[in-house]
Amino acid sequence: MRTPVVAGNWKMNGSRDSIGELLAGLKSQLESMTLEAEVLLCPPAIYIPQVLEAVAGTGLGVGGQNAAAQENGAFTGETSPSFLADFGCSHVILGHSERRQIFHETDSLIAEKFILAQAQNLTPILCVGETQQEREADETFNVVSRQLLAVIDAAGVNALGNAIVAYEPVWAIGTGLTATPEQAQDVHAAIRQLVAERDQSLADQLRILYGGSVKASNAQTLFSCKDIDGGLIGGASLDAEDFAAICQAANK
Ligand code: PGA
Repeated sequence: MRTPVVAGNWKMNGSRDSIGELLAGLKSQLESMTLEAEVLLCPPAIYIPQVLEAVAGTGLGVGGQNAAAQENGAFTGETSPSFLADFGCSHVILGHSERRQIFHETDSLIAEKFILAQAQNLTPILCVGETQQEREADETFNVVSRQLLAVIDAAGVNALGNAIVAYEPVWAIGTGLTATPEQAQDVHAAIRQLVAERDQSLADQLRILYGGSVKASNAQTLFSCKDIDGGLIGGASLDAEDFAAICQAANK
């Protein structure tokens, strides 16, 4: 049995006040729920201490949205994975499509970040996913395999023992378009199969999250698919009620 994971990716949103309100709302929503999922919040880096303080003792985890490919040194503006670990983050999102597309992060750079993050005992949430154009060209699985194999080849398949994979079709992120449960399940099964060809028990344990316009209204159908182990939630994670409902939808 894989414990589901629901992670909120707040992206570059919020203020001290709005984050305070969101956390208070979330805590009161979640208090009355019995959740099976591991719940993670991934705020902008500068707000991580505020979030960590507010969630102390609640069982909610906190992760970064990105980390540097270097440990320390002359890298102005970067956040070292060691900083995230030092403050008490347990996870870090790596290879989000916004990092790949807007900041031109390559598969090999993401693999370097993955290795460094794990060296700091952070659990990477490795994002993979195809663009609309790639899906139309029937390249979905080639793209997702290439993105995953870049990490497996660099870090070794065993590294997936302390990692989460998030399948996020780029065309579904922030667009309101969601992959159908069948579309998502197909890719999730293919990801698990790719890992199974290398290590069956690792594949059985690997949590593979779906991301891309997950809402309170579609979460349960997606999460009930055999190979979908929860979600990476963008827009809907900024609303306490919606996010709490999505966390609850991960109960089997
Ligand atoms: P969305 O974002 O839920 O707003 O589509 C998901 C993500 O980018 O992780």
